[in-house]
Amino acid sequence: MKVYVSLFVLIAALMSYMWRDTFDPDSVRGARVLITGASSGIGEQMAYHYAKFGAQIIITARRLEALKKVAQKCVKLGAQKMMYMTGDMSDPADPERVVKYAVEKLGGLDFLVLNHVGDTNVEFWNRDADHVRSLMQVNFVSYTQMTAAALPALETSAGSIIVVSSMAGKLASPFVAPYTSTKFAMNGFFGAMQSELAMQKSNVSVSIMILGLIDTESAMRKIRGFSTMTAYPASEAALSIIKAGASRQKEAYYPWFHYFTCLINNVFPFLKDLLLSGLSKDNKD
Ligand SMILES: NC(=O)c1ccc[n+]([C@@H]2O[C@H](COP(=O)([O-])OP(=O)(O)OC[C@H]3O[C@@H](n4cnc5c(N)ncnc54)[C@H](OP(=O)(O)O)[C@@H]3O)[C@@H](O)[C@H]2O)c1
Repeated sequence: MKVYVSLFVLIAALMSYMWRDTFDPDSVRGARVLITGASSGIGEQMAYHYAKFGAQIIITARRLEALKKVAQKCVKLGAQKMMYMTGDMSDPADPERVVKYAVEKLGGLDFLVLNHVGDTNVEFWNRDADHVRSLMQVNFVSYTQMTAAALPALETSAGSIIVVSSMAGKLASPFVAPYTSTKFAMNGFFGAMQSELAMQKSNVSVSIMILGLIDTESAMRKIRGFSTMTAYPASEAALSIIKAGASRQKEAYYPWFHYFTCLINNVFPFLKDLLLSGLSKDNKD
């Protein structure tokens, strides 16, 4: 018994050491940041946090008026420099265009924050393979295009790529087959990139952020009637993403306990259906 208690204490101590908050706000003060999908939700909240830390920010999404509003608030919150540009990541030309604009306007880049996500329904897969293809462009291919375009600038600044992923990229999730596929692709691609960059002794870091359910307007609208799971605050999620990127963590979880959800799923895969038992078609309003 004593052995188990000691082992538990040792693991807990190691975990709290690994997950201690090493974030230094100075590391993002004046930093040149490009945030995608920042006209609403988690991206918008990240823009506000970066602004409070005094970063130089460019935000992008499709809706011009929404971007303008976010930018105005960022200026009030203390952004050193604040710009916005529209871009549609379903257009294969836009990812590179947006990055080029940001690098030119900011005179380089320290953080590329890839966060945008295309619209998809929460439902049993409706056999629409064209939707899978177009969602792949928005949620995944555009991420790789922006990364390719930004790498030279990030190599110059020893910068960071922050990828906003999901528990749906760790556990294949029902009702969101196209979405979950894009997030698995993202985790695979950027996980491979981490290894390749390490092998090349690159000074660029890649942080993959795994999020649980977050209370953004779009997420809450979509899961209504499908899930009784607790949703966590977008502002806190946004801050944890910024911290993970600034401290160059390879992978981080918000809420933190989802690290264990994934661990348990890997050991006991059959438990997934129990975990997701709150998701039921029958619960639909
Ligand atoms: N909320 C959650 O529960 C949750 C959980 C796990 C992971 N995540 C991840 O967190 C990230 C943000 O999610 P969120 O809930 O904040 O989403 P959201 O509120 O729906 O925001 C999505 C953003 O992406 C932009 N966007 C959508 N389609 C686009 C396109 N074709 N081209 C360019 N921009 C586009 C939207 O702006 P426009 O409409 O103006 O283009 C918006 O700014 C996503 O990567 C998502 O997968 C969220």
